[in-house]
Amino acid sequence: MNIVYLNGHYLTTEKAKVSVLDRGFLFSDGIYEVISVYNGKPFLAHKHIDRLNHSAQAIGLLQPFSQAQWLRIFSKLLKLNQIKTENKSLYLQMTRGVDSTRSLALPKSHLKPTVFVMLKELIQPDYSNLSKGFKVITREDIRWKLCHIKTTALLPNILMQQEALNEGANEVLLIRDKKIIEGASSNVFIAKSNVIYTPPLSSSLLGGTTRALVIELAQKNKLSLQEKQLTLTRLLNADEVWITSSSRDVMPISFVNDQKIANGKPGPLWKKMHSLFQTHKNSL
Ligand code: PDD
Repeated sequence: MNIVYLNGHYLTTEKAKVSVLDRGFLFSDGIYEVISVYNGKPFLAHKHIDRLNHSAQAIGLLQPFSQAQWLRIFSKLLKLNQIKTENKSLYLQMTRGVDSTRSLALPKSHLKPTVFVMLKELIQPDYSNLSKGFKVITREDIRWKLCHIKTTALLPNILMQQEALNEGANEVLLIRDKKIIEGASSNVFIAKSNVIYTPPLSSSLLGGTTRALVIELAQKNKLSLQEKQLTLTRLLNADEVWITSSSRDVMPISFVNDQKIANGKPGPLWKKMHSLFQTHKNSL
């Protein structure tokens, strides 16, 4: 998996170089997507490209490719790296491009965006061994106010995620104005009395592709689901807590800040959703 895509070229990681005047390097002036590859095929690729387009529009970046052109880049990259039926992950990053100097001011005319795509290992939770249970912690959300944009400016996420790892947790759930917003790299769901809840979309959180699929699967299968604000009390008193993201799918959470959720075992609604999710994945 040594071949990457950079600005129209397919080359080895070692040969892929970006200028130090790239606004992505200087300011994290860029956006990204992480797309799972199952059985050699990018999963929910159209949804990821739609979201990339929204992020690009939100920061005034000219997105150079159509859906079809992105898909061609992905398949060529998979082919060059000899990925046929394996599970992997595609990382795609686009920055505003290389300027003539370092200046906060946006250049007068659009720069040529820097486009980079690489393949990574897909690291997924081991759902065959759930006896230990996954843990999350909660922290005050220290990020900015435009979290619907998938920006590469991830320093707050990095620092908060590290606090989770230091405490043996898989993820940190972020609280803003006493509301549970999302994880540092995931969305959050709870189940209570047979109803599934997730916070509604807003500029405080990223509209996850996995979140959208979970909502779609719930609706198609007549599971009751509501988009509703969640408090820490509701989270701790839930029957089930899940987090969702491209690499995790739907992950059951047994502990929040060392407090056990219900009996600490993945619940029946998670089992149902996990199974619907796997079936959907295998049907593509
Ligand atoms: N993260 N919220 C945030 C802040 C995220 O960074 C992500 C994804 C999600 C879930 O989105 P999706 O279901 O489309 O993966 C929610 C990716 C995986 C990452 O940063 O690696």
